[in-house]
Amino acid sequence: MENLSQAPTLPISSRAYAKIILFGEHAVVHGQPAIAVPLQALSAHVTAEASPKGSGLSISLPHSPELIYLHSDNPSVGQTLRHTAKLTLERLAIPEPDLKLSLHSNIPMGAGFGSGAAVSTALVRALCAAIQAPLTNETLNALIYDIEKLYHGTPSGIDNTVIVYEQPVFFIREKPIESFKIHTPFNLLIARVDYATPTYITVGDVRTLYESQPQQTRQIFDQIGAIVHQARHAIETGSIPSLGPLMNQNHALLRQLTVSDENLDRLCDAALQAGAWGAKLSGGGRGGNMLILLPEEPALRPKIENALLQAGASEVFFTSIN
Ligand code: PMV
Repeated sequence: MENLSQAPTLPISSRAYAKIILFGEHAVVHGQPAIAVPLQALSAHVTAEASPKGSGLSISLPHSPELIYLHSDNPSVGQTLRHTAKLTLERLAIPEPDLKLSLHSNIPMGAGFGSGAAVSTALVRALCAAIQAPLTNETLNALIYDIEKLYHGTPSGIDNTVIVYEQPVFFIREKPIESFKIHTPFNLLIARVDYATPTYITVGDVRTLYESQPQQTRQIFDQIGAIVHQARHAIETGSIPSLGPLMNQNHALLRQLTVSDENLDRLCDAALQAGAWGAKLSGGGRGGNMLILLPEEPALRPKIENALLQAGASEVFFTSIN
């Protein structure tokens, strides 16, 4: 007879993809919609393996010989991961298991790819699979959002939603999650710069701007919201070239919100001059990364890549949104 309560075969691995915001960052914190998609080129993986009886739960990080124990007295190392594991066990009302969770991730941290949410998601998935306590996406999403809130001030929840559901989302804060279809795949370059500003700082600065100039700032949020609706329509109907001007307009409004900087502006200009259909910053801004919509002519891609590197991008990579 099949033993249904049999423990799963360990080791067991779980994965979570990175995300990228296409349109609507910052305004989304203030109730407007935003569009984000999973980025399959970047992902976090966590492997759970059995540990000796009584050893408790430990987490190993890449390139670090030190294990993070759930009940360690060193609060500075791996605090987020330890907290994620603790909160998961608390919510499930499950005692600490004897497990080792090993993390691997190629998602750059603090670069607007949702590294924190992806790592937490992969960790919770691996832990739950190992202790046979499957979570629904809804419960997992709420848990990851609570963890995001502890470390990122007042996040809108877009990162955890795209990462947990692994689908393109049209996201409005505190509204039911809406996914949508991508009619025709389109190609982007993602250009990174070698510095970033923590998202809670730019989000805080936008909030201060809103408090000091409520009317003008509200208008900017509304205009971004209108762009997001048009972008969704363009993506759903395969009207890809029209995404270019929408990206440029969205970038100009983000500049008005003070979250761009001269380097990101220079990269946008360079990409457009080299033939890109559109360009904008993505995520928190003032560093991090930006998106460039590639035109149909494949010959223009290396030209645009070169222009971005010449203009100061530290890395440029290609991704297809489909
Ligand atoms: O920096 P990222 O990619 O995590 O994006 C932040 C997006 C904001 O809209 C600026 C903040 C948020 O919580 O939605």
